[in-house]
This record gives sequence, C-alpha cells and structure tokens, in this order.
Amino acid sequence: MTITIEAARLADLHAVLALLERSGLPKEGLADHLATTLVARSGDEVVGSAALEVYGAAALLRSVAVDSMLRGEGLGYRLTRAALDLARHRGVATVYLLTETAGDFFPRFGFHPTERAAVDPAVQQSVEFRGACPTSAQVLVASLGVA
Ligand SMILES: CC(C)(COP(=O)(O)OP(=O)(O)OC[C@H]1O[C@@H](n2cnc3c(N)ncnc32)[C@H](O)[C@@H]1OP(=O)(O)O)[C@@H](O)C(=O)NCCC(=O)NCCS
Repeated sequence: MTITIEAARLADLHAVLALLERSGLPKEGLADHLATTLVARSGDEVVGSAALEVYGAAALLRSVAVDSMLRGEGLGYRLTRAALDLARHRGVATVYLLTETAGDFFPRFGFHPTERAAVDPAVQQSVEFRGACPTSAQVLVASLGVA
C-alpha cells in the first residue's frame, strides 16, 4: 500500500503518541506542536512521525519514528526530509535534535554534534531539553540553506 507523508490531524494524536511509546521516545510536549507534526500514513494507519517545535528562526526536530515493521525502507528518510522542508518553509535557519539511539542516522541530512550550551536559548526551553530527554542524549545541529 502507498505510504504518504502528510500533516498530522488532531485525530492522529493518539496513534502518534502510541508510536512514540513503542519507539522509546518522549511523548511530553508533542500535543502542543501537532500543527507542525507530520505523519506517514498507510491507509488509515499512522506508521511514522516527525515533529518540529518551531521557536522563531530555530527549531527542534523530534519524534522521528517509524513503525518497527516498516523500518529500513526509506520512510525515516522521507519523514526527516519532509520535516526539514517544513522547517525551511517556516523560515527556520537552524534545526536541533536530541537523540540517544540514532546519532548516526542524521548526518546524512547535514546534522553534526554540538554542545547543549551552544543551543539557541529558545530551544533550550523546550520540554525535551528541560527534562523529557536524558542529559546523556546527543545534541545535533543542522543549518538549513536558503531554498
Ligand atoms: C531512526 C528511524 C526513524 C529510521 O527510520 P527508517 O525508516 O528505518 O530509516 P530509513 O529506511 O529511511 O533509513 C535507513 C538507514 O538508516 C540507518 N538507520 C536506521 N536506524 C538507525 C539508527 N537508529 N542509528 C543509525 N542509523 C540508523 C540504517 O542503517 C539505514 O542506513 P543505510 O541507508 O546506509 O542502509 C527508525 O529506526 C526509528 O523509528 N527508530 C526508533 C526511534 C528513534 O530512535 N528516532 C530517532 C530519534 S528522534
């Protein structure tokens, strides 16, 4: 079945939170950013997600998750690309992310490690930075070129 990447709807929230739970990712704060959340949809089912928390010219990319049955088929790539396109569309220049388990997945999109202290102060106020994500998580940053 064709899998489409599209904007999340309010009715998707429960399915996205369940996917995050199954994927071992934080759920806290996601509901506040549903307007900038993307889902991968197969029929009626949510099989992937990627969310942006936009703070002016900076954003946090979070909740990149693919249903375990569908991993390794390019869906994570499509979701991340779509989220970065959305960030550009929103005028975001710098995107951060926190990850404990997928630090090697993101360099292909231009992400590289950075220090927590170097993160835009607005992003540091996000729920993930303030506690939902362990302090051991790696911090990555990418600068978005002008499209
Ligand atoms: C990370 C994740 C989104 C990747 O989704 P996916 O659909 O399997 O990824 P794709 O099929 O687009 O890409 C597969 C490639 O990514 C690599 N990859 C997948 N998961 C990876 C991980 N956790 N760490 C490093 N590389 C990873 C694969 O080795 C493969 O590499 P290749 O193209 O060189 O063969 C998925 O594994 C997942 O949901 N993980 C659990 C949640 C998570 O850790 N999210 C990231 C933190 S926000």
